[in-house]
Amino acid sequence: MTVVTPLTGAGAEITNVDLTDLSDDDFATIHQAFADYGVIFFRGQELTEHDHIAFAQRFSTININRFFSFHPDFPEIALVVKEADDKFNIGGGWHADHSYDFDPALGSILVARELPPTGGDTLFASMNAAYEALPDDMREFVDTHAALHSGKHIFAKDGAYDAIEDFQGRIGNAEAGNELVDTVHPMVIKHPLSGKPMLFVNPGFTVGIDGIADEEAKLILLKLYEHAGQEQFTCRFEWKPGSVAFWDNRAVWHFAQNDYEGHRRVMHRITLDGCPLEGMNPTIASSPVTV
Ligand code: SIN
Repeated sequence: MTVVTPLTGAGAEITNVDLTDLSDDDFATIHQAFADYGVIFFRGQELTEHDHIAFAQRFSTININRFFSFHPDFPEIALVVKEADDKFNIGGGWHADHSYDFDPALGSILVARELPPTGGDTLFASMNAAYEALPDDMREFVDTHAALHSGKHIFAKDGAYDAIEDFQGRIGNAEAGNELVDTVHPMVIKHPLSGKPMLFVNPGFTVGIDGIADEEAKLILLKLYEHAGQEQFTCRFEWKPGSVAFWDNRAVWHFAQNDYEGHRRVMHRITLDGCPLEGMNPTIASSPVTV
């Protein structure tokens, strides 16, 4: 029988299951664990690209990434690659993918394909645990505010990826980055699956707070990031051949470690479509920023 073992800090490991041969009960257990823990891990899986796609499609439609290079035979699979002579890695800071979209991607399923001898772990942080542990004054603030999310400083022309030579061939399509529409989201969302409150700001893509001057907003966001990135809300996933991680962008942050200089790391990532978000406080809503 499929076994779900919660990890300290964030997430759960699921054992005794073969992702290529899921019964309806297995699927229900996995789906529930995903809703409960925000990130789930599997070991010893032997997934072909077809298996990876089939598993993903049980959860949602596949969101074909606009910016990542993709598998030559499977455009559904984005490549998260760092070559031995690359300096920078993809996702090397705390972030939640697609938070800049009006209906942010549900999450991603990452499969290890080629790993460095050591290093290259991924950290995850629980945004429910971080929210629940906020001091009262900060909680009151986030409960009553919305934040501005943007992907332009990362993906548009002259953004972080475009400006660094090292990312050429791995991340591109800056024209689509220029077209991104910024979005305001509640700082605390009601999670679409669990109904739990989640702190919904992240260092990668949150660029301001609605109604708050830039300098003050920056200080508030920094304080929130310091709080949410504390070790007690996080777990570290050490990749091995056959490892799979499935995270929910509405529930956790993630952070790929860049500590394997001189080695190649190749991961296959499938991202899944999400839905519009609701505020935990029903008076705070998401809206696209059209200027
Ligand atoms: C990412 O999707 O941010 C990359 C995660 C990883 O490579 O571990």
